Amino acid sequence: MKTLIVYFSAERGTTARAAREAAESLGAALYAITPEKPYTPGDLNWKNPLARCNREFFGKKEVPSAGKIEDFADYDTVLLGFPIWYGCAPLAVSCFCKGYDWTGKKIAAFATSGGSGIGKTAEKLAPFLPGGELLGAKLIHSGAEVTAWAKELGL
Ligand SMILES: Cc1cc2nc3c(=O)[nH]c(=O)nc-3n(C[C@H](O)[C@H](O)[C@H](O)COP(=O)(O)O)c2cc1C
Repeated sequence: MKTLIVYFSAERGTTARAAREAAESLGAALYAITPEKPYTPGDLNWKNPLARCNREFFGKKEVPSAGKIEDFADYDTVLLGFPIWYGCAPLAVSCFCKGYDWTGKKIAAFATSGGSGIGKTAEKLAPFLPGGELLGAKLIHSGAEVTAWAKELGL
């Protein structure tokens, strides 16, 4: 079984830290989703109605990512980590997912948040993972919790 941890992290590196720790303890490969146009702190100020994050979310914009995972087909298990934005996975993540063939892969999502629960994150993300089996999504606070979640799912 070959595992890849793909993550997106934008504000404080919270999700990145958990992803890195889990990759180490699971012996998984690690890949960071990087938007073509990186987010500045101002872009992420959701309290400003005109901030990029709000324009993208409410305008249902595409958020293309830079780079490509060349050996994506080699992985049979993918752990997908991201911060909760507007109650679900950020557009950078769903747009990233659309660019790959998920056929036959087992997928588990993990998320950090500012206080929201996981809500309908899994249900909203699943359509972007055609052919893949999304086993669920879980709110986590550390890499150890990601590792435990993966083991609980038998990954
Ligand atoms: C645009 C935007 C939208 C957010 N929406 C939510 C939300 O709906 N619920 C929540 O609990 N936190 C929300 N947050 C907070 C992040 O989920 C939280 O700070 C996360 O841990 C950041 O992870 P990071 O440092 O890896 O980017 C939002 C943050 C941003 C920038």
